[in-house]
Amino acid sequence: MKNIAILASGSGSNAENIASYFKGKESARVSLIICNNPQAYVIERAKRLGIECKVITKKEFMEADSTIALLKEHCIDFIVLAGFLLLVPEKLIKAYPGKIVNIHPALLPKHGGKGMYGDNVHKAVVECGDTESGITIHLIDEEYDKGTTFFQAKCPVLPTDTPDDVAAKVHALEYEHFPHVIEEIIATL
Ligand code: GRF
Repeated sequence: MKNIAILASGSGSNAENIASYFKGKESARVSLIICNNPQAYVIERAKRLGIECKVITKKEFMEADSTIALLKEHCIDFIVLAGFLLLVPEKLIKAYPGKIVNIHPALLPKHGGKGMYGDNVHKAVVECGDTESGITIHLIDEEYDKGTTFFQAKCPVLPTDTPDDVAAKVHALEYEHFPHVIEEIIATL
């Protein structure tokens, strides 16, 4: 049984979807949620799911030592970033080499980088007149949105689509694929 930690900063709908997917499975379980935003709805979801949720400050996270200690305490094997807005410090990446994945709500390398998160991404897709968008699940390295890509899935973007329409299509892809991709990666650990 592998232990997964999810790092999230916001609503946490992906965190909940992943936790529900692994509930009752023998391969892995979500045993810890880490959040850097005390107002985030993911904290409520964690309570409801009965998963321990630790709220940390940006400073603590950037220094990394206490986060690494927390992860080790929970015997965490694999880390999933699901709507997590802080850059992962090098120390943490070195403590979990090849074991941290992120989901980006667009088709990288398009619409990635600093500031490109949440609605900003979907607005950029619409403003550029893109005819498709999607999700990218990738390994985390020292730069934003630059690690090896494991998986992409696409959805069409219509000329009449608003950023909210695109967000809804992208979220549907996230819910459909993210847990399975995590399961496949974990099987190779
Ligand atoms: C998702 O679209 C994810 O791809 C992006 O942030 C959003 C988080 O949504 N990185 P939620 O908090 O899982 O509902």
